[in-house]
Amino acid sequence: MPLTTPKAMFERAGREGYAIGAFNVNNMEIIQGIMQAGSEERAPLILQVSAGARKYAGQPYIMKLVEAALMENDLPVVVHLDHGADFDICKACIDGGFTSVMIDGSHLPFEENIAVTRRVADYAHERGVWVEAELGKLAGVEEHVSSEHSVYTDPDEAVEFVRRSGCDSLAVAIGTSHGAYKFKGDARLDFERLEKITSLLPDYPLVLHGASSVPQEFVDMANKYGGRLGGAKGVPEDMLRRAAASGVCKINIDSDIRLAMTANIRRYLAEHPEEFDPRSYLKPAREAVKLMVQHKIRHVLGCSGKA
Ligand code: G3H
Ligand code: 13P
Ligand code: ZN
Repeated sequence: MPLTTPKAMFERAGREGYAIGAFNVNNMEIIQGIMQAGSEERAPLILQVSAGARKYAGQPYIMKLVEAALMENDLPVVVHLDHGADFDICKACIDGGFTSVMIDGSHLPFEENIAVTRRVADYAHERGVWVEAELGKLAGVEEHVSSEHSVYTDPDEAVEFVRRSGCDSLAVAIGTSHGAYKFKGDARLDFERLEKITSLLPDYPLVLHGASSVPQEFVDMANKYGGRLGGAKGVPEDMLRRAAASGVCKINIDSDIRLAMTANIRRYLAEHPEEFDPRSYLKPAREAVKLMVQHKIRHVLGCSGKA
């Protein structure tokens, strides 16, 4: 099956109240783990590629790995640019075969965010590519956006932004943040705000960034085998399920992949100190990614059987 855009995926997800997982990919093992999970669950998938991933692996390598994965797995798959910083990176990804791009102008003043998003949308739409934009700022560190404190998305501004920028989906800030340290005290998301945005933009696909749940099992495993991840905390899974039922069609997960891999690699190497073949520890790491993604699809996103 060729790569697809998120359009049909999001329409059905919105209608039926579930979300599609958008998983960050950086290498072969991550792509294989996610694809195997999607395949076993018959779930649509979004594989997203950050600027850092393009730099680490190289865009052509990632595209060829995805192409290879699609030869083995007959699934609807989107390749999406995560946090595109400007028009040029969006253009490079559109020209390189991505079916969806994010232009992240969330750090810009409102009018400038609209202008750059409009420019990307015009270029992308002429080529049949989907455009995600962001309004509001997540706390924590994005690639090029550093904000100590989040600025939640204003519902009325969101309506104007969508109308004037031409974006196809919108990432909103309601209290999530990137990375493995999301909450100092109790986890709290502003569902009232999310529901207001959904009521003003009915049937419009919203996106939740910073949506890893930071499973305690991986934090404990990493710490047991030499890691130092004290105080790591993610978004509780029941909150993600609620978001998926409230207009959020795309849920972004990267940190949980990192944790699953690193915890398992740490354990493997600690238990097999004589081992130095990378395949020996990358294999359980890939399996851990697969099981984690499978769990998300089945028990958090609700998109099992929707391919
Ligand atoms: O939101 C950021 C993603 O987790 C990608 O992270 O820029 O380190 O690849 P990265
Ligand atoms: P996490 O750090 O919560 O996995 O968020 C990933 C993300 O939003 C990628 O854009
Ligand atoms: Zn993000």
